[in-house]
Amino acid sequence: MVDPFALGRADAETARFPQARPRRLRRMPALRDMMRETSLRPADFVYPVFVTPGRDARIPIGPMPGQAQVSVDNLVREGEEAASLGIRALLLFGLPPRKDALGTGAYAPDGIVQEAVAALKSALPGLVVITDVCLCEYTDHGHCGTLRADGSIANDETLDLLARTAVSHAEAGADVVAPSAMMDGQVAALRSALDAGGWTDVAVMAYASKMASAFYGPFRAAADSAPQSGDRKSHQMDGANAREAMRELRQDAAEGADILMVKPALAYLDIIARARGAFDLPIAAYNVSGEYAMLRAAAANGWLDERAAMLETLTSIKRAGADVIITYFAKDAARLLREEA
Ligand code: PBG
Repeated sequence: MVDPFALGRADAETARFPQARPRRLRRMPALRDMMRETSLRPADFVYPVFVTPGRDARIPIGPMPGQAQVSVDNLVREGEEAASLGIRALLLFGLPPRKDALGTGAYAPDGIVQEAVAALKSALPGLVVITDVCLCEYTDHGHCGTLRADGSIANDETLDLLARTAVSHAEAGADVVAPSAMMDGQVAALRSALDAGGWTDVAVMAYASKMASAFYGPFRAAADSAPQSGDRKSHQMDGANAREAMRELRQDAAEGADILMVKPALAYLDIIARARGAFDLPIAAYNVSGEYAMLRAAAANGWLDERAAMLETLTSIKRAGADVIITYFAKDAARLLREEA
């Protein structure tokens, strides 16, 4: 059968200069605006925040200028500000008062994230609250799971603790839980524990394609979650592997993920594009701490136009196929979009 759309497209593309002059459509701002294929809106962004114990605390994060660890009272202010800018969701990371080998702070009913979720949901019930589900911020060894005697991560034992963590977040009021530990089977473990607890409406945003990346460096300072020995290469993926990334995405979709995440974003735009083509689930991309830090550092030196570079970066992630962009630029970008509108 002849595809009339494909025919039309081919015809248009046969025109050559001087008949074809692409610059005709770039001549004036209104035309350029009309022809724009990808646009950003504040509702595309998820704003990640680090929550720390105490009151009225706001501790700047050195390698992430403009970001801070905030106490729960200030977190509510962050939520209010984000919501007033049109941002719909926050992603919470916690800094527990104490760490131990089993990461008990991650699933303590009165843990820092549980407290933060409850406070946010009571002050701002309409804001979407997403929680990161991992043990690395809560273990004294800094690994994403519990360790065996030989120092390797005990995958299946860790699944139980991740599931407990997710259920405790749901009990506190979380709308979406986001497992980031890269343990095999983590999405299924969370889904079945949530369902067994009656939390059938809590969604799972899976860190599905998560690479072992140098671009998490600033985050590990912010979340105090650097491994005390070794690295994360036994569970996070080799950034060279695109086909393996597709297998991870497929497994998480099969395990019941509601949203599939690709992380980091910028060095992996090809994975985002492939994920977009292969799945009809919503795709999220994490514009990670190192991507944020690079741009801020260059701008602070006067080497880049910060506003333009920020919007160009976020637009590239959306254009590649992300529906949701997790970014520390969320508030700044939302403000810029408002000014432009
Ligand atoms: C927790 C987690 C990490 C990030 C998100 N969740 C760190 C890691 O895997 O080491 C990184 C986010 C960022 O760099 O902005 N496991």
